[in-house]
Amino acid sequence: MASGRLRIAVIGGDGIGPEVTRHACRALRAAASAGLVELELTDFPHGADHYLATGETMSQSTFETLRDDFDAILFGAVGDPRVPDGRHARDLLLGLRVRLDLFLNRRPLRLRAPGLSPLKSADAAPIDFEIFRENTEGLYVGVGRVEKEGTPEEVAVSESVASRFAVERIVRLAFEYAGPLGLRVTLADKANAVPHMFGLWRRVFSEVASEYPGVESEMRYVDALAMEMIRVPARFGVIVTSNLLGDILSDLGAEVVGGPGLAPSANVNPGLHGLYEPVHGSAPDIVGTGRANPMAAVLSAALLLRDHGAAEAADALEGAVDAALAQGVRTPDIGGGASTSEVGDWLVRRVASGAA
Ligand code: NAD
Ligand code: IPM
Ligand code: MN
Repeated sequence: MASGRLRIAVIGGDGIGPEVTRHACRALRAAASAGLVELELTDFPHGADHYLATGETMSQSTFETLRDDFDAILFGAVGDPRVPDGRHARDLLLGLRVRLDLFLNRRPLRLRAPGLSPLKSADAAPIDFEIFRENTEGLYVGVGRVEKEGTPEEVAVSESVASRFAVERIVRLAFEYAGPLGLRVTLADKANAVPHMFGLWRRVFSEVASEYPGVESEMRYVDALAMEMIRVPARFGVIVTSNLLGDILSDLGAEVVGGPGLAPSANVNPGLHGLYEPVHGSAPDIVGTGRANPMAAVLSAALLLRDHGAAEAADALEGAVDAALAQGVRTPDIGGGASTSEVGDWLVRRVASGAA
């Protein structure tokens, strides 16, 4: 963890990435000006423009700079219609996750104000759970092949990998995290249809669970769990799962608590490195319209601060978002009429005012 001045690398990326990251950076600077944290922000140009101009996603030396000279990365989003196969986005984002071994993708899902959820029952009990998504393996390893491409006999194979080491470290982290908070740990898998990979997940989960007799735990097939997430979202504490299932469940969960504009995430190797970003993507459908909600980016910056010991500054950013929600300062995705900049300005003023 950083002591003293926090060195943050900023990669806005593509589409609405830079639009929302700009306000997260302003909120961070406001927290610094209010004396809540010491930090410095350094911008990096990586994304589709950089890729199209240079032919590379990120040089080895830039990667080493990010790895060695910074405490954390604040990331916007990547994905651009000019790169239809998403090659640069995979290289950059999945590349950083794997190369920095950011094995935990933490995606907190909390209903921050009444009325934000499309679910009728949402306001009956507090919805506040986290997805612990394994971030280095699964179907994301990119192992596979296409045979007889373009012929009627074409076959594509994508392999999914689960190692005991990677599964055990994230499952253990889920139990360590859930225990002191009194949360239930749920494994989401598909062991009934994919027995090799998810059989290992179930065995490891059961072994680790037996070491934490005080923590309530359960194993659920992901299809039934998806139904439960809609029917009784308040019953979940920590859901630990594989890379792809975690990707899908976290967008489903984001919608349950108000949509993509409100869902932050932290890709971390605890104590070593972290990349903090909204769960959402580059949203090409709204780029340049002023409709992007900057709250998920600001909440991601708050996760960064909290992970680096700046709890007061994190509280200030989260408190500003909660106050904006309560006072109806909202972009259109959550029922408001304010623009990205209007919400950003409001949040920055609130953080600067020192009100929690
Ligand atoms: P998306 O998350 O970009 O957008 C899905 C929907 O949510 C769109 O209608 C969009 O307008 C809306 N939305 C997203 N963020 C919003 C915000 N902050 N405020 C208001 N509305 C918001 O997902 P997609 O359309 O499937 O993907 C677009 C591109 O982004 C693709 O290239 C994809 O690969 C990429 N992507 C990147 C990341 C990332 O960088 N972490 C994550 C997801 C998708
Ligand atoms: C996310 C995104 C990425 C993922 C894409 C852009 C590769 O959807 O961060 O959730 O699948 O991990
Ligand atoms: Mn996703």
